Amino acid sequence: MCGIVGYIGTQDAKEILLKGLEKLEYRGYDSAGIAIVNEEGVHLFKEKGRIATLREAVDENLTGTVGIGHTRWATHGEPSKVNAHPHQSTSHRFTIVHNGVIENYSQLKREFLQDVTFESDTDTEVIVQLVEKSLNEGQTVEKAFRQTLSLLKGSYAAALIDEKDPEKIYVGKNKSPLLVGIGEDVNVVASDAMAMLQVTDTFVELMDQEIVIVTRDEIEIKNLAGVTISREPFKAELDASDIEKGTYPHFMLKEIDEQPVVIRNIISKYKDSDDKIQLDGNIREAMKEADRIYIIAAGTSYHAGLVGKQLIERLAKKPVEVHIASEFLYNMPLLSENPLFIFISQSGETADSRGVLVNVRKLGYRALTITNVPGSTLSREANYTLHTYAGPEIAVASTKAYTAQMAVLAILAVDTAKAQGYDIDFDPIYELSLVATSIEALCDQKETLEKLARDFLSTTRNCFFIGRGLDFYVGLEGALKLKEISYIQAEGFAGGELKHGTIALIEEGTPVIALATQEHVNLSIRGNVKEVAARGANPCIISMEGLEDVDDAFVIPSVHEYLTPIVSVIPLQLISYYAALHRGCDVDKPRNLAKSVTVE
Ligand code: F6R
Repeated sequence: MCGIVGYIGTQDAKEILLKGLEKLEYRGYDSAGIAIVNEEGVHLFKEKGRIATLREAVDENLTGTVGIGHTRWATHGEPSKVNAHPHQSTSHRFTIVHNGVIENYSQLKREFLQDVTFESDTDTEVIVQLVEKSLNEGQTVEKAFRQTLSLLKGSYAAALIDEKDPEKIYVGKNKSPLLVGIGEDVNVVASDAMAMLQVTDTFVELMDQEIVIVTRDEIEIKNLAGVTISREPFKAELDASDIEKGTYPHFMLKEIDEQPVVIRNIISKYKDSDDKIQLDGNIREAMKEADRIYIIAAGTSYHAGLVGKQLIERLAKKPVEVHIASEFLYNMPLLSENPLFIFISQSGETADSRGVLVNVRKLGYRALTITNVPGSTLSREANYTLHTYAGPEIAVASTKAYTAQMAVLAILAVDTAKAQGYDIDFDPIYELSLVATSIEALCDQKETLEKLARDFLSTTRNCFFIGRGLDFYVGLEGALKLKEISYIQAEGFAGGELKHGTIALIEEGTPVIALATQEHVNLSIRGNVKEVAARGANPCIISMEGLEDVDDAFVIPSVHEYLTPIVSVIPLQLISYYAALHRGCDVDKPRNLAKSVTVE
């Protein structure tokens, strides 16, 4: 949610900031702005809308080698030019960009800033006004910045420039992600390394409640009390081509097509030289010792968690509960005596999940994070991490991260089963390699799936997904994918539950996408399809080889029943993609959403 960048070097700052913001647009895209400071002062540009709109507004003749930028996902104050960042103090001496939420901003306004006239409705403006107030009370800029940050409750990744000292960028972080990039005669700041790979691949990670004073040739990290901290930089393991669309029209399509490679990648990372799965012994012990597993996640990752529960329970015979992070945060159930928490998160930054992690760590419980971003907050703050190796996922709608999560959960389930001494007849390495081949075959059937999307979804206002067992969970994910990118109201239901209420929503022509990949419920789900068809629905059955019927709209290759979700979701991803395309929606950047949800 929101992305920030900063640049202090020798090149044209505006171009580097704009390019950086383009890479961060997945974090929010309702408004954007940059501020460049040069010998004439601070030059501010901001616009409602995308970075492309901002780019048109920026004076192309402007020169300057220092600046900050922001792309916004609105929390406080509507998306508008006035609420777009950067924000300035009353005298315009200080300019700030901020990602996060200042929870006590109204209180701070009342307590310290009664005489200040605010220009925007944002919480951010409070920060920059407080810095100016402290300075006016006699503090140095650095002290004013540190003092201000120590008053804030909530999350922030902020970068501040001072018109009177344009050779410095002040940076501060609490809970929101932030990295400082190091180059030769250049240093940069970014919410995500991706934004500044154009300048450097060497970064220093910041911890909560730290500030950094960034100059062209130096960075100085301090805590809020002013004590200097030293930290080694790391090399970002990112390839610039991973974050380009290449010849694809959309990141989502590229990421769907990458899934076979991702699954093979996971196999190679988690197997040993004897082709057996190999997990960190500490994770194995923690799983073995736990009397109950609590999976915590949000959105698509929650759907992967539901599949994970089935796998762990069936293979490792360990009880698992799956919880939506935002609910668990405030409605914690009674816990078992020796629980282990598993956090599933593509980004590793989701605030709801992080809130739970902080709470359970405080209670002394152990946590394992399954994430696509190993250096992320959820990864750092948990005891153990399993990496999903899906590569950067840029499209807002998650695809390859979801299938990767399920593949890693399958490996974890098998490893736990073995650790407990169960002799299981399921080789995840072999079965996952069949999955990768099957996904490849499905990705070659785009024309058929595009036609299905056209036939079933081009004009409908709603759509239902039904399934039983694992298919129910995949249906939930299919519905989420469809609604988030095509804006068709889509809901997933357990096939047997329809007649208890939902069937009232079925009208003439309502599309009902039914999944039939589970042998033990094949006849029952087909019975549920008959029930809706008898009431006028337009059914689209997606089944699996060996279980198919003549009227089925699409048949997926046969894979091990435990792994069917990794395969059956592919047609749903592609159908959603084409439905959104046919309806003229912005596939990669659906309205109102952001990729990484760092606010509660
Ligand atoms: C949907 C989607 C979201 C995320 C959710 C959790 O396509 O991407 O539902 O799954 O916001 O995000 P992570 O996995 O980053 O914690």
